[in-house]
Amino acid sequence: MNNLRSHIAPLRNARSFSRRPSVTLFALSLASTLVASCTHAQPQSSIDSRVEALLRQMTLDEKIGQMTQVDSDALKDRSHIQKYALGSVLSGGSSDTGDNSPQAWLQLAQECHAWAAKTRLKIPLLYGIDAIHGHNNVDGAVVFPHNIGLGATRNPALVEQAARITAREVAGTGINWTFAPCVAVALDPRWGRTYESFSDSPELAGRLGAAAVRGFQGDTYTTPGSILACAKHYVGDGGTRRGVDQGDTVCDEATLRQVHLSPYKSAIAAGVGSVMASFSSWNGTKMHAHKYLLTDVLKGELGFKGFVVSDWAGIDQLSRDYKHAIELAINAGLDMAMVPNGPGQKNNYIDFITHLKDLVTGGRVPQARIDDAVRRILRVKFEAGLFDLKPVDPALTTAIGSAEHRSVARECVRQSLVLLKNDPAVLPLRKNAKHIAVVGSAADDLGIQCGGWTVSWQGQTGRVMRAGTTILQAIRQTVSSDTTVTFSPDASGIGEADAVVAVIGEHPYAEGQGDRAELRLSASDAALVAKAKQAGKPLVTILLSGRPLVLGETLDASDAFIAAWLPGTEGLGVADVLFGDYAPTGKLPRIWPGDAKLTAGVAPAFPFGFGLTDYGRKAGGTRTAAATP
Ligand code: GLC
Repeated sequence: MNNLRSHIAPLRNARSFSRRPSVTLFALSLASTLVASCTHAQPQSSIDSRVEALLRQMTLDEKIGQMTQVDSDALKDRSHIQKYALGSVLSGGSSDTGDNSPQAWLQLAQECHAWAAKTRLKIPLLYGIDAIHGHNNVDGAVVFPHNIGLGATRNPALVEQAARITAREVAGTGINWTFAPCVAVALDPRWGRTYESFSDSPELAGRLGAAAVRGFQGDTYTTPGSILACAKHYVGDGGTRRGVDQGDTVCDEATLRQVHLSPYKSAIAAGVGSVMASFSSWNGTKMHAHKYLLTDVLKGELGFKGFVVSDWAGIDQLSRDYKHAIELAINAGLDMAMVPNGPGQKNNYIDFITHLKDLVTGGRVPQARIDDAVRRILRVKFEAGLFDLKPVDPALTTAIGSAEHRSVARECVRQSLVLLKNDPAVLPLRKNAKHIAVVGSAADDLGIQCGGWTVSWQGQTGRVMRAGTTILQAIRQTVSSDTTVTFSPDASGIGEADAVVAVIGEHPYAEGQGDRAELRLSASDAALVAKAKQAGKPLVTILLSGRPLVLGETLDASDAFIAAWLPGTEGLGVADVLFGDYAPTGKLPRIWPGDAKLTAGVAPAFPFGFGLTDYGRKAGGTRTAAATP
């Protein structure tokens, strides 16, 4: 646990855990959040002894409760947190609350923490959420570029800073755990989760994943607003055949270790406190039931001292017999079950609790396995300072969506943009141009800019959040007052513009709903650029996508082409590059395929690491420019 201890704020003024109903502790636990507050690390022995002392007091019911994580939407009766001594609550991608404001989320979290404080042993709750590119469920939060864009920055310090801000915004809503970073090495970009992967390079995915862990969990003991991180999805989620989500990763063990396991070594070295098991399989065996990889490799060989959480009803996929599925998963090394279903639904959290108790009393799941799981969960809670509760610092809540946070997200956008072409050199555009024509509906669509996992699981087109700047708005804010900026979703009315900016892009998706058989631009996007080209004006094309797409004639028709990935709410970062306030530095974080079906032997359109810097002035601005990873 040393590596974990060094990165998650240990306890301050640690007090021996007692059953004495301490009013102070009770009051503080009403609004808990992780506070990296310690001026010194707690001796590991002190935490371990406190864990053992608490474990000895726990009944089997309380132990199983700690291993149970319930979705807030399923938790119609929140007193069940107390009744079943639940260890964790989550809000899944679409389990939103009230008006989705920071205050509504804070109230929800505080209510859940308060119920945990009413349990016999007052073991604090871990509240988890998918804050994977900012506190993206919350309206008003800053939405950062998705990981594929952060991968293009090649900037661990910036990735850590983005995670730090995300952690502070999450902590400002009383939530203390994010299911991030995804450290998948996405090999086939037809996978709907390619944008959640930093890179198809294990080294880069590991380096940036570790930076995100440090950002979330804090690497100094005086940093307020730390939250628990979660490396996911263990292991090989990005290696499935044809990029099929939750599919089968077929490879030898050496390849699995070299490609997909190595980022977890970086995350563990960075102190990550939790790991999420993958829905996918390795050579036909589901990861959620893979004892060798979950226990022998992750916990034994790699020495991971945190805990393993399942994915969303991931256990259910192991067998039609839910009880048997639970037996397989827990015995394989799963420590906490993410159970999204509530009373009245199949395989609900009461079923899980009942079945697991039967399995233990019936000798099918050893008591020692339960104790190991609970020990890991408790140790993380102690290490993360959960027992040493402070009220949510109101400054964290008011800072959600602040200008300071947005400026960092804007920097991430700037550094994430990859200039693929600038020939003839039409970039940078002039801020005092007489007329700039912006075309394409994606130019004024915050939902497309943000992509999936934004307010809802799948994301949505349109004004997905109250606060945010579209690329069109950013252009209008950047040019001179004498410049006319016209906007035409269908590329009509370009007239005598000095330049045309065409914005095209994928509509939002998440997980398997983003799986594609081929990597093509939509016909409407290709047609838009072709029509814009007919105007005979300098044409800059910006692609908003969660992955590379085969560009074909669209690239040839564009004088300049920028891969902008899914930049999030801060569109001004795009304008900064368009108008020369920031010369592009982004480098492709993954190979850009030359063939929509990834046919073997077809050369990439652009190699890993390609990116024109300084607008390509030195490199001639063409796609043949040397790649500099
Ligand atoms: C989803 C995803 C996982 C996420 C979890 C909770 O199915 O696979 O990445 O953290 O459920 O929302």
